[in-house]
Amino acid sequence: EEGKFTVCSVGAGYVGSLTSIILAAQQPNLKVIVCDVNQDLINSWSDQRYPFYEPELDRQFDIAVNQNKNIKFTTKITDAIQESDAIFICVNTPPKKDLISGLGKESDMKYFDLACQTIASMGDPKKHRILIEKSTFQIQLNILGTVPVGTHKRIHGILSQKLSNPDDCYTIVSMPEFLAEGVAIQNLLFPDRIVVGTPTDKNGMETFEVIKGIYSNFQTKFIHVKTASSELGKLFANAMLAQRISSINSMSQLCETTGASVQDLSKIVGSDKRIGQYFLNASPAFGGSCFEKDLQSLVYILESLGQTDQAMYWSQVLHMNQFQKRRLLDMIISEFPNPSETVLTIFGFAFKKNTSDTRMTPIAYFVNGLIEKGFFVRIHDPQANERGFYLEMEMQGFDIAERFNFQFCGSDYNKAVANSNAIIIGTEWDEYITTNYRNIRDQMNQSRALFFDLRSIVDEEPLKYLGFEKVFKLGN
Ligand code: NAD
Ligand code: UDX
Repeated sequence: EEGKFTVCSVGAGYVGSLTSIILAAQQPNLKVIVCDVNQDLINSWSDQRYPFYEPELDRQFDIAVNQNKNIKFTTKITDAIQESDAIFICVNTPPKKDLISGLGKESDMKYFDLACQTIASMGDPKKHRILIEKSTFQIQLNILGTVPVGTHKRIHGILSQKLSNPDDCYTIVSMPEFLAEGVAIQNLLFPDRIVVGTPTDKNGMETFEVIKGIYSNFQTKFIHVKTASSELGKLFANAMLAQRISSINSMSQLCETTGASVQDLSKIVGSDKRIGQYFLNASPAFGGSCFEKDLQSLVYILESLGQTDQAMYWSQVLHMNQFQKRRLLDMIISEFPNPSETVLTIFGFAFKKNTSDTRMTPIAYFVNGLIEKGFFVRIHDPQANERGFYLEMEMQGFDIAERFNFQFCGSDYNKAVANSNAIIIGTEWDEYITTNYRNIRDQMNQSRALFFDLRSIVDEEPLKYLGFEKVFKLGN
């Protein structure tokens, strides 16, 4: 036990908990501590109750907790830091709600700053530690708004306020996290690459060697770069991925009007090795806690630096995302002349399949738009919960508190489809492909029922056969 290299994660959310669990499971030689200010969250991890749904988590959790016994969850943050040789900062950096500066495009760094202050207070020149930022990169502009300062400089600034010799206490490293929810365990076990951004001096080289040691059992390639590249690289990676989705989404209506199929298009271009097959699925829009936030901040940074044309380029990716939602919502609304007599069922509220996470889900926009029009809206999702539903609607600024024309049905199909006039697939859950639509159609409105597949996952013909008056399949 004593003398084991110890790492701690400050933050036990998606990134902090999952990266720590995988590290503990794969590296029995390490001691891993996960800490958070949220007592409920720590309790649920300690009691072996998962605070969110993530496939394949069970096995890795079991290896770490019961087999290797090298992980613990705690709210004692300073103790955890005290014990550690390396500290991962994995706190949340949500989009800023307060629109005083940055037109709401900045990320809110207050949780991040607070975590750094705690870390600063534990600085000890007698025990040099590695401080690894995993939270998404944010450029901080100075007062004049002209000099961009990466997250590592922000941390250094905070450390300098408390410590006369911050560099003796900490070496700041950037290691962006590339996991995607729903496939996080596979992403973490077999990462495409591990990016390590360090200072370029001798200390930086040595620190890189230590980090390679932390991940010694992982078979992957390391990309060692200077800190600023690592930070900006992560922002660019998310921007590129989001751009692919907006690109395919921009073709969906053209496919619908010309008789082409957007899946065929994806196959055709995706077979080109230079393009690649992933992230070419048309959708009602991309959601999740990262893409929109990171694009917003990229656009904000570019605008702030006077790089206007580049800012316009990336803002079009966001524009297309917004446009797609509007277009599809209008299309659905146009099918029903009497909203107040119409019941609509939305299948899926999570921002993608295989996660209970609903942060920035595009479906919230549809739910709100349909409720506002006066439809009765029922929402089904196999994993998302009611509390998360209400929180997310509020987060996205949709005020439905005074409305009575909706019902969150959780995983209850019977409740969700009773007397409904339409199914709208919003999330691509596998069970929405395999569920018994004959059964569902029987429970729906007998005179008129439509089907809108906004993820293009089901076949139209069998549905038409079951008596759906119209079957819309995105991009077809
Ligand atoms: P999260 O909201 O799930 O978790 C963050 C946790 O940090 C929360 O539990 C919160 O209580 C805790 N926290 C806040 N302040 C703290 C403090 N001072 N001390 C200790 N704990 C504190 O967020 P997340 O999804 O894990 O994201 C964390 C960071 O990683 C963000 O910057 C995000 O942009 C980035 N990121 C997220 C993903 C993803 O898929 N979710 C992927 C890559 C990168
Ligand atoms: C993303 C990045 O993929 C990950 O590398 C980064 O670390 C965090 O942000 P995440 O948001 O968890 O991960 O999920 P992702 O699979 O990227 O999906 C984001 C959104 O894009 C979802 O709403 C998803 O439905 C949508 N999407 C994805 C599409 O619409 N089409 C696609 O082809 C792929």
